[in-house]
Amino acid sequence: MTTKEKTEIDALLEKGILEIQTDKPREITDQFCKDLEPWRVVIEFSNGTKTTDFARRDFMFNRLPLGKLRIFSRFIDLEQFKGSSVLDIGFNEGYHSIFFSKYLKCKVDAIDVLGSALTRARKISEFLDLSVNYTIDNAITYKREKKYDLILHLGTLYHLTDVSTAIKNASDSLNDGGHLFLETITYEGSGEYDCQFLAGINNDSSNIWALSIPTLDYMFKECGLSKVSHCRDIEVNLLKGTGMKRSLLIYKKDL
Ligand SMILES: C[S@@+](CC[C@H](N)C(=O)[O-])C[C@H]1O[C@@H](n2cnc3c(N)ncnc32)[C@H](O)[C@@H]1O
Repeated sequence: MTTKEKTEIDALLEKGILEIQTDKPREITDQFCKDLEPWRVVIEFSNGTKTTDFARRDFMFNRLPLGKLRIFSRFIDLEQFKGSSVLDIGFNEGYHSIFFSKYLKCKVDAIDVLGSALTRARKISEFLDLSVNYTIDNAITYKREKKYDLILHLGTLYHLTDVSTAIKNASDSLNDGGHLFLETITYEGSGEYDCQFLAGINNDSSNIWALSIPTLDYMFKECGLSKVSHCRDIEVNLLKGTGMKRSLLIYKKDL
């Protein structure tokens, strides 16, 4: 359901990929993309270079890296975050951080546990002349003095052993009235608070918890965040018949 008027930012998210407006010559962008193969995500540059033109791809290749933001943008006007401070938890190749830095002029800090993610995200952002502050840190244990207007908690929560500490950590890092965009695997069983332990599902030992949405709402509320939108539940083939799906939710820290 569309709940608001379309903006320039919505137009940039229309294809769900990272579109980069650039003055760099095509040969230079092509060489950069060649050097960074294999790619994990679709990036299309205005000079014609596309990461999909390069044959070697990561096995987790993501054709819709900004698909989640596109869904959120139908429920909340992203322009309101112009110039805001943003924390991207689990930044991966940096595409969400890059979008907020380039198109909304946000001051972005970003954390991930993987050194390979850090190396790639830094190279891509430097090539785009963006100053995103990527660091290695853990969503459960990181500590920040600084507080943010927006936290992106996308595709990371179900990887965490200690969800409640991670939620408390995120809440402590948010300004009052700040927003948190959550995308994670959720579970709907017979009981409101039924949850699933995912260890090993799809042969991936990094998948840990699928909590029910009432459980997430409860944990966030305990930390002073209320749900403002339950944007979408997405059924994915790998989770078919399990009661699990990927859910996108927006929380806001109480004033
Ligand atoms: C499925 S990817 C999601 C990437 C991106 N946020 C997105 O929504 O497309 C999960 C990311 O979280 C990172 N991650 C896993 N455990 C983490 C932890 N404990 N703290 C911070 N990042 C973590 C992974 O390295 C990976 O980059």
